[in-house]
Amino acid sequence: MQQHRPDEQRHRPRTTFGPGHGEGDTPTMRLIIMGPPGAGKGTQAKFIAEHFGIPAISTGDIFRRNVSEGTELGVEAKRYMDAGEYVPDEVTNLMVRNRIDEPDAEHGFLLDGYPRTVAQVEELDGMIRFTGHQLDAVVCLTVDQDEIVQRLLQRAQIEGRADDTEDVIRRRQEVYVEQTEPLVEVYRKRGIVVEVDGMGEVSEVTERIFAALDVVSES
Ligand code: AP5
Repeated sequence: MQQHRPDEQRHRPRTTFGPGHGEGDTPTMRLIIMGPPGAGKGTQAKFIAEHFGIPAISTGDIFRRNVSEGTELGVEAKRYMDAGEYVPDEVTNLMVRNRIDEPDAEHGFLLDGYPRTVAQVEELDGMIRFTGHQLDAVVCLTVDQDEIVQRLLQRAQIEGRADDTEDVIRRRQEVYVEQTEPLVEVYRKRGIVVEVDGMGEVSEVTERIFAALDVVSES
């Protein structure tokens, strides 16, 4: 697969985002990336975070780190993750609240894999409202179902992620459709959804996301 190198000339990280964000010259972008399992959220999150100089916060990565370290949270999360189910909201919400309270997220963040339920949307609204800020955009990656299954089965061979078996992949897709897909509509009604075609080379998708978000950050 082609390796993406952000084009430094065309995509210099922004240093200001103009009025309206209330933080003067400090870079700020509060973003969510959404899409079904295998859409490329984690892959693209790294480039977006680098581009805007904000941390990418992946709930899946935090859970996996806790699983590999054998923490209490990891033991609890693993039961759900291995079955393709969502970790209970109260566990996930507290984890995200603590993470976005960290100093590196003060001037912005990109959430990957959160929120995933209506209750998580409400909780996140409260967290952001408390800081006096607002969400800037929700990037929604769209990818064909066949391509998604292909990507995840390929990753299963390379990485052996515990939830990349055929049955669990199917369950993760079902849970996404039931519980998370409806959230796109919630954010669409707020006028902050940026839909991006997630098909094609990684670098092509990155270019599309940057183009769409540059419009947001200039508005
Ligand atoms: P999480 O880790 O978030 O998994 P997911 O949503 O299933 O997403 P994936 O990591 O599988 O896919 P992705 O969209 O990030 O794609 P990626 O870039 O990796 O969550 C795991 C579990 O944790 C959940 O099932 C749940 O149990 C729990 N959890 C997490 N958050 C939670 C929450 N908020 N509430 C409750 N529970 C929660 O790409 C996939 C593959 O495709 C990679 O191999 C990649 O190299 C490849 N690829 C990417 N882009 C392309 C491209 N353009 N072309 C070809 N290949 C590509």
